[in-house]
Amino acid sequence: MSLMGILDRVADVDAFDKVIEPARRAVNAALRPQSVKDLLHGTWLGHALHPVLVQVPVGSWISAGLLDAIPPMRPAATVLIGTGVAAAVPASLSGAADWSEQDTGVRRLGALHAVANSAALGLYVGSLVARGKGRGTLGRVLSYAGLGLATGSAAIGGHMSYAQSSGASHSATAARALTSDWIDLGPLDDLPEGRPALRTGKGGSVAVPLAAVRRGTKVDVFIGACSHLAGPLYEGGVEDVRGRECLVCPWHGSAFDLDSGSPRRGPAANPQEKLEVRMEAGRVMARLPARNR
Ligand code: FES
Repeated sequence: MSLMGILDRVADVDAFDKVIEPARRAVNAALRPQSVKDLLHGTWLGHALHPVLVQVPVGSWISAGLLDAIPPMRPAATVLIGTGVAAAVPASLSGAADWSEQDTGVRRLGALHAVANSAALGLYVGSLVARGKGRGTLGRVLSYAGLGLATGSAAIGGHMSYAQSSGASHSATAARALTSDWIDLGPLDDLPEGRPALRTGKGGSVAVPLAAVRRGTKVDVFIGACSHLAGPLYEGGVEDVRGRECLVCPWHGSAFDLDSGSPRRGPAANPQEKLEVRMEAGRVMARLPARNR
């Protein structure tokens, strides 16, 4: 069995949930209010923050590993290890915020990712202590062990992102299935005012759900699958979030600006894919924007 096959087996073990669920509740209780979580998700940035923040510890620790191999450069390696240890704290917090809003299988692997990262961090802290006491050889052994563990943990994180789609935009994925032609969504007068309605567009042999929101004569049309975890936005609501009218997901409460599709409240960090709209003889016509065609 491949390494990634082993990770999939780990993600299947429901016995882990006895420990994971209380940990998830603790993370949710600690990362309050919602604005703190949104800061850590990267909702304000329109991009997941965790993969951005992890660049610092990963880059620092790999560079330290190289410099440790050159004796005159070892003091610089110690500085880089300290930088990585400090940067690991916000990176861990953003990862914990994302993890607490993920599906069950992702949470199981995420728990393994967190344990491995914590162990790596402990080894690096031990390395700094050893170096501070003049025990350079022990310090290097500990930091190389930390680097090995952090590398393995990064592979788990990559599996969560790519194989389990934990950070991908699910609305961008759904948009790929939609025809690039104009879609007739029916008469404007059939749409309810100020709340999302389900409409569908052609996607080869399957229908792709869309969420259409009418405000007077203006209609905003989104891919129906939420960018966070594909929740049904057409079953959500419209709400004012920090001064902007937003389409709100019924699953985890992510809010997307009706005018732009930008996330205004997490856990979503990616924008919601929005279609171009025009009226034709009182009917609503929608089409994917050029970047999706
Ligand atoms: S699926 Fe999680 S907020 Fe929409």
